[in-house]
Amino acid sequence: MKFTFPENFVWGVAASAYQVEGAWNEDGKGLSIWDIFSHIPGKVVNNQNGDVAIDHYHRWKEDLDLMSSLNIKSYRFSIAWTRILPTGRGAVNSHGLDFYDRLVDGCLKRGIEPIPCLFHYDLPQVLQDNGGGWKNRDTAYHFAEYARVVTERLSDRVKIILTHNEPWVTAIVGYLIGLHAPGEKSIYNGLKAAHHVMLSHGLAAEAIRASARKLVKVGITLNLSPVFPATASQRDIKSAEAAHAMINRSTLEPLLLGTTPLDENWMTKWFTPNFIKSGDLVKIKSLDLLGVNYYSRSMMKFSWKNIPLFAEEVKPIGIEYSEMWEIYPPGMYDLLKRIWDDYYVPASKQGKAMPELMVTENGVPVSDVLEADGRVHDERRIRYLKDHLSQIHRAIQSGVDVKGYYVWSFADNFEWNLGYAPRFGLIHVDYDSLKRTIKESGKWYANVILENGFDTGE
Ligand code: FCB
Repeated sequence: MKFTFPENFVWGVAASAYQVEGAWNEDGKGLSIWDIFSHIPGKVVNNQNGDVAIDHYHRWKEDLDLMSSLNIKSYRFSIAWTRILPTGRGAVNSHGLDFYDRLVDGCLKRGIEPIPCLFHYDLPQVLQDNGGGWKNRDTAYHFAEYARVVTERLSDRVKIILTHNEPWVTAIVGYLIGLHAPGEKSIYNGLKAAHHVMLSHGLAAEAIRASARKLVKVGITLNLSPVFPATASQRDIKSAEAAHAMINRSTLEPLLLGTTPLDENWMTKWFTPNFIKSGDLVKIKSLDLLGVNYYSRSMMKFSWKNIPLFAEEVKPIGIEYSEMWEIYPPGMYDLLKRIWDDYYVPASKQGKAMPELMVTENGVPVSDVLEADGRVHDERRIRYLKDHLSQIHRAIQSGVDVKGYYVWSFADNFEWNLGYAPRFGLIHVDYDSLKRTIKESGKWYANVILENGFDTGE
């Protein structure tokens, strides 16, 4: 059966600055919390770091050529705040702006729509040291200033600016779980940081709209995961809903409704007045494009652990796992459909406009090897992409207006605390020579784009 996608469906690839650029201390760049964190022994598997990564900073032309050979229509990349404002605020480093200027022009020259994202976990270390990073409300204001500087430079050519990638991960994995930089572990600070990141979206949206030279859409990408109860028991159902509120609603609702589910939870509602100030939620509700990053579902059971959620993750058995997560393609449909039914349908009944919806990340790590025939036979990735795209197609058929899809990632890269072991790319990178080789999945994706769809083989 042939699955065809809507006309003008955006086929893209995504990456982020720290994961691909390297050149960590070149051309006036300041240090970010990831530059520091990754150099602390024990923080990253095998003590690897992004000092060189895949050297995209120097090889961007070759990389854009590769993208163009794969028919890619859009490249979602992130801008390193520390290249633009090395100490987070104050003096602007023109070399940094020049780099992204060249990257944007390079995309446009090849017919690739550039979508810059202002923040993908790499906070300037100076802001972390002086004031506590995202725990400090001032950081949100510095972020808005940074957004203004970038907008002034790029808004004559880019049509969309994303403020944040996965604010929940920035705050919760960085300040509550501590697996990511800056590696802190406090429930209170995690939630506070999460609010400040969300607030910074609102302030940046305002700055972008005020300083754009042409009309620019403001977007954001969220890590979202459909949550299921482990059993049909009332306790498990309640735990799953509490986890859904924390993982999904806590970022979706400030953006889409101007409210927060943190006020519903018996414990977090005591915290929020300390950091959610009057007018904040209204400011955050400013969005033209909602990006959904989907990798896996979450299954929850009741537990006395993880207060205040009383929910513990269960790993379903008899299901395939990748090196990182359970592989669950129907979760893509479930997630998109729930977002649509919970927010878009009610809004449309009230005649309210809603942001465009896109899948801004999806992909799978596979232990790919470059074979003797010079190819990377990553059939598992092809099947993963096909299965997930089929679920997007199913969502579109049932009325969910999904405008585009971005594979994570265009090439293998630095996977945060897991280092270089998980390979997510459509393009293989030899980490010794930095040689790029298009994988079979890359060729497959190129063809999907050409045909605006694919044959399911059924
Ligand atoms: C997402 C991140 C991205 C990458 C993928 C695998 O959560 O946005 O940087 O790590 O996961």
